[in-house]
Amino acid sequence: MKPSLPGSYFDDIYRRDPDPWRFASSAYEAAKYEDTLKALGDARYDSAFEIGCSIGVLTRQLAARCASLLSVDISPLALAQAVERNADLPHVRFERMEFPNQSREGSFDLILMSEVGYYLSMPDLDQAAQRCHDLLRTEGALLLVHYVRETDYPLTGDEVHERLLANPGFQAVTDRSTGDYRLTLLRKAG
Ligand SMILES: C[S@@+](CC[C@H](N)C(=O)[O-])C[C@H]1O[C@@H](n2cnc3c(N)ncnc32)[C@H](O)[C@@H]1O
Repeated sequence: MKPSLPGSYFDDIYRRDPDPWRFASSAYEAAKYEDTLKALGDARYDSAFEIGCSIGVLTRQLAARCASLLSVDISPLALAQAVERNADLPHVRFERMEFPNQSREGSFDLILMSEVGYYLSMPDLDQAAQRCHDLLRTEGALLLVHYVRETDYPLTGDEVHERLLANPGFQAVTDRSTGDYRLTLLRKAG
């Protein structure tokens, strides 16, 4: 079993390149973000939690749907950019957090895990699922989006989605794949 990737792995990546996945410029990422928000329909959220916000590009789009948004990342280098990019949005807060080993008190009606679950070991993913369940209000939404082609990460995108779909604490609302990424919307079971 591969362990979860540590913060130093991501700090090294961001030190080499401030936007390593081209979140701010790639047409693929822009289309995926549009699809991600489309999966939420026209819902608006009182209190949302974004895990692994990176440099805050998707954060900015998600923020338009939320009265309040807490966005966290393991890498302080990524977070510094996210803070700067969203400095004009007072309802968005950023914290450095290594999820799920670090967490916080809270009650959210949406949690977003976009391209972050496959960096965790399976035990840490299970702990993340439990924490998400604890942090969500009844019928709160958990949206997962992950690349599903081959990587050398601890888990595959499909393993992340299958594990959460098999968790009795959640019910599937949407589960679809483009061949490049999978998008699964879950609702906290009552
Ligand atoms: C590929 S980026 C995804 C960014 C964004 N969610 C998106 O979809 O555009 C993954 C981010 O997750 C962060 N990350 C990885 N493991 C994490 C963990 N255990 N807790 C919090 N953030 C983590 C990394 O630092 C990185 O910024």
